[in-house]
Amino acid sequence: MKTNYTIVPLTQQLIKDVANIHSESLPDDFLPNLGFDFLVETFYPSTLRSDRGKVFIAVDENSNPEGFVLVTVNSGDFLKGILKDRLLDFLKVGIRSSFSSFSNFFNNFQIVISGLFSTTTQNAGEIYVIAVKNSSQGKGIGKLLVNKSIEFLQECGIHVIRIKTLESNIKWIGFFKKNGWETEKEFHLIGNNYVSLFAEID
Ligand SMILES: CC(C)(COP(=O)(O)OP(=O)(O)OC[C@H]1O[C@@H](n2cnc3c(N)ncnc32)[C@H](O)[C@@H]1OP(=O)(O)O)[C@@H](O)C(=O)NCCC(=O)NCCS
Repeated sequence: MKTNYTIVPLTQQLIKDVANIHSESLPDDFLPNLGFDFLVETFYPSTLRSDRGKVFIAVDENSNPEGFVLVTVNSGDFLKGILKDRLLDFLKVGIRSSFSSFSNFFNNFQIVISGLFSTTTQNAGEIYVIAVKNSSQGKGIGKLLVNKSIEFLQECGIHVIRIKTLESNIKWIGFFKKNGWETEKEFHLIGNNYVSLFAEID
């Protein structure tokens, strides 16, 4: 039987579930690499307070969270806002991770700089993180979350949406291309090739 999913906004109670899905589905992502506690105690609480980013969660009929999206109205401002909100915590975790290896330090540096000084289209919203539980992938939850992101940005008066993904994520990129999204740019960050895709959402 087909499961029906409902989209709900992030609450304090759902932070651990979101952090679990983020760590499980994107284990090599920069944020989970800063630690589960960092996601639960710093990143998502700060995101919850942000007026530049919003998390939506897809829950099943038993209210179990199965996937989520973090969508920003402006990623540079979002990142600056959460860095300012919890500067000490970010510094602590950044320094701890950087001390463990030089490559970590270099990666952290590149990511923060690219996030803060990205020179992409102004007034574009972004699907900043999207992840679905491994066991629930391929059931249409990702599509639901992308549609919710578009709807949210339209309500905010934003006319362009963007997503960055690994160049190797062929099926996922194909889904966007099929739906009229175009390549904005290709770039290299911390040893990986990425593609940035965008669509007009008037
Ligand atoms: C990518 C991801 C968010 C897609 O969510 P999903 O619920 O699995 O996707 P859906 O079932 O809604 O399918 C949407 C499209 O994604 C593609 N897709 C389906 N399963 C996928 C998977 N496991 N991995 C990548 N893409 C997938 C399909 O092409 C599908 O389009 P189509 O059915 O029109 O061909 C999810 O698979 C995931 O969390 N993957 C791991 C983390 C990741 O890569 N996140 C994206 C970073 S930008």
